[in-house]
Parts: sequence; structure tokens; C-alpha cells
Amino acid sequence: MHLLTLADYSEGDIRRRINNALDHKYNPTPASTPTGESVALIFMKPSTRTRVSLEAAAAYLGLHPIYLEARTTQLSRGEPIKDFARVLSRYVSGITARVYSHKDLEELAERSDVPVINALSDRFHPLQALADLMTIYEHFNRISGLKIAFVGDGSSNVANSLAIGACKLGAEMRIATPKELQPDKLVLEVCGDRLHITEDPVEAVKGAHVIYTDVRVSMGQEAEAEKKKQLLRPYQVNAELVKHAHEDYIFMHCLPRHVGEEVTDDVFEDEEHSVVFEQAENRMRTAIAVFEDLILGI
Ligand code: CP
Ligand code: NVA
Repeated sequence: MHLLTLADYSEGDIRRRINNALDHKYNPTPASTPTGESVALIFMKPSTRTRVSLEAAAAYLGLHPIYLEARTTQLSRGEPIKDFARVLSRYVSGITARVYSHKDLEELAERSDVPVINALSDRFHPLQALADLMTIYEHFNRISGLKIAFVGDGSSNVANSLAIGACKLGAEMRIATPKELQPDKLVLEVCGDRLHITEDPVEAVKGAHVIYTDVRVSMGQEAEAEKKKQLLRPYQVNAELVKHAHEDYIFMHCLPRHVGEEVTDDVFEDEEHSVVFEQAENRMRTAIAVFEDLILGI
């Protein structure tokens, strides 16, 4: 089985991964001996959290992580992804990949004999969403029935994956985004009427338990940077906007942020509401849970 989008997991699968991740956070049981197995981490784009959390998770489980920057592999000289997949499958027990086009990930998965895990594509970021859901669950002790508002680029990989997970777990998902930046079609399929899309950020955050945003310009979208910044200017998360949220709301961001753009510093640094570093920490716990499930079959 592969994890290309959170739709690959059922509601029960997601809940199990969150519970396992919580166990590893509060009762860590690192492997004392290597398993003798390796996992490949292929990156076509930069990363801080995903790379380090996956390497640390592999080490914790006794798996050997092999970090591969795509430009230093033969992929950069035109080696077909389908060949790359068939070769790597003979060396490692799992492949995580950060790609530009989601289609590359699908091709990798189609030709790989070992599980392929999406470490971010242009359309989805399921590992991020698992950590997001874990963080929300830790804070509120439930997800079902919560109002989760994403404000910003509703077409972003992070918004898409959060929405899929939140809807599967019974939350009320709201996305405030310009009409030009609509969520992925898979989000609409999974969410149905659990999803409310609006152009009005105030409408989305009214009474919300969670306010989430992401950068205005994602990796690989540099050519459209000015247009996206312009479209997203009215979607900044700031003190004025968060006044409309639930009094115990939490502020979330996948990181990295663009300082002063999509969220103001006062909201980002507000320790009473901002859980961004807890969320970043949870990336490693959920990575452990996913490796356990897909690679070790625990
Ligand atoms: N949130 C996230 O995926 O961060 P990186 O790009 O640093 O991996
Ligand atoms: N949407 C962002 C997320 C980075 C973690 C991007 O794709 O660049």
C-alpha cells in the first residue's frame, strides 16, 4: 500500500496513526537494534521539517534512511522514473518522495514494489495533515464537530490534505480563498457537504476552533508569484481576523512562513493560541506511525 493522499487512509487508519504517534510521543520506545532495512528519501524540492522528521523517524525505528537529492541522482540526467522505481525497490523497504508533479509520484508508486509515501507534491501533503490532525486532537481531545478554517491559497497541497483528513474525521471544514484558487477535485469528492468554501475570511473564521494558513506562493509556483500575492492579499491572518474565532482557537501553520505576509507576527507568536512548533514536533511522531504501518507492518 502507498500513501499518496490522505484519501488512501480510512477514518480508522488515520485515528490509529494518530494514537500510535501519541504513544511514541509520550512513551517513546526507540529501537535498540537496527532492522537491517533502509528507506529512501527522495527530494526534488528543499525541505527542513519533512527531511529531518523522516530521517529521525527512521533512526528511531532502526531503519536506515538514505537521503537522495534528486539533482545528484541520474533522474537529473533523464533516467525514467519507472526505471528509478524498479531499481530502488530492490534496495530499500520504502520510498518517500517530494516531487513537483503529483503524476511523478503516481508513476513511482505504480512501478515500485515497496510502499511509496508522499513527502509533498503540488497537490497533496498527507504527512503534514497527519501531524496537523494529531495536533488538533491533542489540543481539543476530539476532531469531530470542530470548525476548522483554512485562510489563504485553497488550492495548496497543505489545504487539500488538511481538508481531506478533517472531513474524514467529521470536522466542519471551511476554506476562505479567492475563486481562482479552489481546492483539488479530490477534496470536493471526499468532503461533500462537510466543506464550506467562501471568498470571505471573516465568514470562514467565525467561531472557528482552528485557523490555519500556508504561504501565498508554494514551491514550484515562482512564475505566478506576483499574481498569487495580489490575489491573496485580503487573506492575511491578523489580529483583526482572529477576533472572530472561538475564544479558545488555535493558530496553525505548516511552516516555513513568509514573515509578515500570510500571518502577522503578533498572531504567529501568541503563545496562548499559536501551536505551530507543537505541530512541527508532531511531524516526527506521525512519520514514525506511518513508517510503522507501511514499512514495518506493525
Ligand atoms: N511543512 C513542511 O513540509 O516543511 P518542509 O518544507 O521544511 O519540509
Ligand atoms: N504549500 C507549501 C508548503 C510547504 C511545506 C509549498 O508547497 O511550498
